[in-house]
Amino acid sequence: MVRKIGISTGGGDCPGLNAVIRAVVRAARLHYRWDIIGIEDGFDGLIYARNLKPLGLVNIAGILHRGGTILGTTNRGNPFRHTTVEDGKTVVKDLTPKILENIKILGLDAIISIGGDGTLSIARDLYKLGVPIIGVPKTIDNDLSATDLTFGFTTAVNTATEALDKLHTTAESHHRVMVVEVMGRDAGWIALECGIAGGADVILIPEIPFDIDKVANKVKQRQITGSRFSVVVVAEGASPAGGERAILAKATEDYENVRLGGIGYRVAQSIESLTEIETRVTVLGHLQRGGSPNAFDRLLATRFGAAAVDLAAEEKFGYMVCLKGRRIDSVPIEEAVGQPNRVDPHGQVVTTAERMGVEFGRSGETDQEESSQDDILQEENP
Ligand code: F6P
Repeated sequence: MVRKIGISTGGGDCPGLNAVIRAVVRAARLHYRWDIIGIEDGFDGLIYARNLKPLGLVNIAGILHRGGTILGTTNRGNPFRHTTVEDGKTVVKDLTPKILENIKILGLDAIISIGGDGTLSIARDLYKLGVPIIGVPKTIDNDLSATDLTFGFTTAVNTATEALDKLHTTAESHHRVMVVEVMGRDAGWIALECGIAGGADVILIPEIPFDIDKVANKVKQRQITGSRFSVVVVAEGASPAGGERAILAKATEDYENVRLGGIGYRVAQSIESLTEIETRVTVLGHLQRGGSPNAFDRLLATRFGAAAVDLAAEEKFGYMVCLKGRRIDSVPIEEAVGQPNRVDPHGQVVTTAERMGVEFGRSGETDQEESSQDDILQEENP
């Protein structure tokens, strides 16, 4: 029987984490009358058993709308392969026995772990060791396939769309090309959705390797037909056909993902040299992760938090809450990780964008739609 639970947030932060924490504490206290321990900085808090704090209603008052996480987080380290430097040498240790010991000492009957693919993979492996863990999916990237949406994503799309609205007006005034690099890792969801909502002329996503000549032609075509500016959205993981992604730093034992970034500058340079139109770059970066969650994300986060508490009550450990259609459901964490949710290059959303005249720079494909759109544009702007 569950009486005391722990809660932690791991991986990159995103808007809505505090809303989940609040929902878990409120549901666990008000409905089940459990005790709750807040664990700081993801699994590190359980390894070192430091800064553990009981969470009551007072501690979570006023956090629903706040960005970030009151519990702190980290996207470094894996307790199964914990790295330290000793005498100048990197030493890798399995610290999961410490986690098991501390869970016992603290008397935790369940742990609610809020995280993305990396955190949830660790949660799955801890569950296999007997840790009574429940997962809650989060990420602005929306790249988890077992849930229709992750909270944080639509807020990031809102932020990026507002940026596009602002960049549009300055692009138009100066007759420039504005290239906007957005996050998303290997998934193009943020770029695709903010690009459509913000009326971008070109959207480049990792799922569709691009041909820069097509991008430049689109910009030139717009010039010819009277639109003397263009807005280009580039996902940080996008790459030219046959080329490489732009990487800021390689993966390490401690930081398991490559750090993406820089593709915006490469694209801008090529556009400027191919079109001779002045081009500027904006990298939105962590602005997309910060700030207040929108109403949709607050609601989704609250529903996830309350459902996670119910899963703990049912002792359905090793499961993760998820959104299926309009309902909150659950899936084994095992099924939820490792299968990224990526944009279908020929799916409905991409097709809709193409109908709007958006250029994806598809390489090696002759685009009938595009040439018929060019004819109409010429006809209407002789
Ligand atoms: O996964 C969320 C995310 O913001 C990605 O979109 C981005 O590539 C990465 O995290 C950035 O991580 P960091 O905060 O370590 O720079």
